Amino acid sequence: METSARLAVVSGGGGGIGRALCRELSQRGYEVVAVGRDLRRLRDLEVLIARAADTGPPGHPPVRGVVCDVTDETETERVLSALGPVDVLVNNAGTAESAPLHGTTLRSWREHFAANATSAFLLTRHVVPGMRERGHGRVVFIASIAARAGTPYTAAYAASKHAMLGLARVVSAEVAGTGVTSNTVCPSFVRTPMTERSVRRIAERTGRTPEAARQALADSGPLGRLVEPEEVAAAVGYLVSDAAACVNGQSLVLDGGGIQT
Ligand SMILES: NC(=O)c1ccc[n+]([C@@H]2O[C@H](COP(=O)([O-])OP(=O)(O)OC[C@H]3O[C@@H](n4cnc5c(N)ncnc54)[C@H](OP(=O)(O)O)[C@@H]3O)[C@@H](O)[C@H]2O)c1
Repeated sequence: METSARLAVVSGGGGGIGRALCRELSQRGYEVVAVGRDLRRLRDLEVLIARAADTGPPGHPPVRGVVCDVTDETETERVLSALGPVDVLVNNAGTAESAPLHGTTLRSWREHFAANATSAFLLTRHVVPGMRERGHGRVVFIASIAARAGTPYTAAYAASKHAMLGLARVVSAEVAGTGVTSNTVCPSFVRTPMTERSVRRIAERTGRTPEAARQALADSGPLGRLVEPEEVAAAVGYLVSDAAACVNGQSLVLDGGGIQT
């Protein structure tokens, strides 16, 4: 059990990585609030974690789902104000579509920035002052290798994830020395519904089988396989732990070794 940490908020907690994050944080003794727009997905998550807690070691606090569009300032402020002091925030909500630059609509560009960058801005802006006052807090951003490099057909996604990374760096500079940390985790393709949507798009466009499309994504990086959601959650588990108290402003890249800068 961590010292002094109690409430963890995970945006996009009902998604593929989000579920693993909620499980990890619950196992670490946090009361977890998962926020997202889809009530059914959040209820499924609550049941899943409650079942795991029933069969696992005793003492895991439950996970609670709260409906919230984290791109909406009023909604986000209302939900966070009702929760009280937040010890851990994981900015995980996000969206991804691929298109060449000339096929990227302004609407898609704005949606990516809203879901991937503005959401993190709104949530982080709300929780950091309280964390600073209490002298303890952890903010982790689930960015992507797309926050660290440019690859074809990812203009809106990569630009918005670069924005998220920039925000995380600024926050780390502002909280340095206060007991609060701000770090990013940057995975390559993870085995989640988001990646499955990419698999379907590739299969449709190229005529490949879903298996071949999935393998192409796995082969696109040095790891040669998809990252598992639990691997992302384990990295976050480390960053929120007391052992990582001196780690601030860092990006933990989970891609098997491709990005060197
Ligand atoms: N999958 C990958 O290969 C990969 C790789 C690197 C980084 N990432 C990043 O990891 C994060 C999680 O992705 P994932 O793969 O787990 O995708 P996912 O399964 O599609 O989950 C994304 C989650 O974000 C939530 N979300 C999106 N917009 C939201 C909004 N406006 N308000 C509240 N929640 C919102 C969705 O919930 P609702 O639809 O219910 O709102 C969903 O639960 C994303 O930021 C993604 O960019 C993913």
